[in-house]
Amino acid sequence: MKIDVLLGLQWGDEGKGKIVDVLTPDYDVVARFQGGPNAGHTIEFHGKKFVLHTIPSGVFNPNTKNLIGNGVIIDPLILLGEINKLKKGGVDITKQLYISRKAHLILPTHRLLDAAQEAAKGADKIGSTLKGIGPAYTDKSARNGIRIGDSCLENFSNQYQKQRERHLKLIENLDFYYSNYLIDGQDFDTYEKAWFEALEVIKKLQLVDSEYFINDELTAGKRILAEGAQGTLLDVDFGSYPFVTSSNTTAAGVCAGLGVAPNTIGEVFGIFKAYCTRVGSGPFTTELFDADGDLMRKQGNEFGSTTGRPRRCGWLDLPALRYAIMLNGVTELIMMKADVLDAFDTIKVATAYIYEGKEINHLPFDACTQNLTPVLKSLKGWKTSLVNNREEAAMPIELVNFIRFIEDYVKVPIRIVSTGPDRSQLIRRKK
Ligand code: GDP
Ligand code: IMO
Ligand code: MG
Repeated sequence: MKIDVLLGLQWGDEGKGKIVDVLTPDYDVVARFQGGPNAGHTIEFHGKKFVLHTIPSGVFNPNTKNLIGNGVIIDPLILLGEINKLKKGGVDITKQLYISRKAHLILPTHRLLDAAQEAAKGADKIGSTLKGIGPAYTDKSARNGIRIGDSCLENFSNQYQKQRERHLKLIENLDFYYSNYLIDGQDFDTYEKAWFEALEVIKKLQLVDSEYFINDELTAGKRILAEGAQGTLLDVDFGSYPFVTSSNTTAAGVCAGLGVAPNTIGEVFGIFKAYCTRVGSGPFTTELFDADGDLMRKQGNEFGSTTGRPRRCGWLDLPALRYAIMLNGVTELIMMKADVLDAFDTIKVATAYIYEGKEINHLPFDACTQNLTPVLKSLKGWKTSLVNNREEAAMPIELVNFIRFIEDYVKVPIRIVSTGPDRSQLIRRKK
């Protein structure tokens, strides 16, 4: 058996949570391989809405095991909050959830460091979700990190104190005075106390040696889906550096983040919105600052699932999409939020950029400092509601033309078109 991968091709929030939930009945295991609580994956069904940050989106199928892989970083307090919220919503996931012992912890001082480092950057700030992602991954790479498995060992308290002290010195050097800083509404001491209490609960869940766990499942012929977080254009190597997250969000991250060999990867499902959004700073060539952008934000309810921040909106960027497809080896595409474009007379897509006076169709190295101008192609809008459309045969011709234009450009088929936030709102296209 192979591991299929589902990941975002843009700047995150493409709708990964919804589609993982839709595909989960076909899988025995769903595994997150990178990122942490910077993610916010929304799932809606039966009039209920859940937002998951650390927990894989396969938990709504009671027969599927869900693994938080070694490449993920965990804030135990946020994870416990998610588990409790699900419980309140009538979903008890503790028997289905497995956590890699090698997953690193986000310490309370990582949260302070994230805030201190962002403040120090001033106008150049990344627009981080302030969940401690950058500092926790930095410590992992610098070999200072603490894994969740370490918290069960005797030396943990010493390790924790050592890192805490080191972090507080760094924070002091950044002139960041945290006595008034609130972490998720709590002062540092209160947060730290709650963090330790949560860790005691999380430690008692099913911690596993996840590289053996997943390879044993593969050997037993089980079907596995790896769930990405963030998006390709936020990848630490290939995204719009430095305006990126701190992990490999691309398919390459699956091997390192789960402990599986490259030849175990099967299908790669690439998800993109029919337009583009971005939260936080960084280049966005097709960004709109006009009524069209406002309409996208309103129709698409484009406000962050994790931070509530308004998302920047713009037209679909085809050279960037093709770049993401290339990096991930995408075999099938899934186009999300087509319904958001229902109201538009004209829909535009970028087919190239003007860079240093010339037309190009790749992302240049200095895309972050040079202003690229998009070359836009206009297509006729369908001007009809898609939200109740479930049949390929009933798709308006303008939508068919839009899909064909994208497929011709990127040379990968679009298999699913999503037409609303609910699990049931989608059109499957025949092979
Ligand atoms: P993720 O991080 O990739 O899982 O995406 P988010 O959950 O952060 O953001 C996607 C948002 O769009 C959520 O609020 C979803 O409920 C919503 N959504 C997903 N698919 C569709 C769709 O086809 N149409 C509309 N209108 N909303 C959708
Ligand atoms: P999901 O999985 C959208 C963005 C932040 C910021 C940059 C770095 O829901 O698609 P970080 O907190 O990682 O240091 O922030 O990355 N970002 C996301 N944007 N969706 C996400 O996750 C994101 N996770 C991080 O806004 O610009
Ligand atoms: Mg999200």
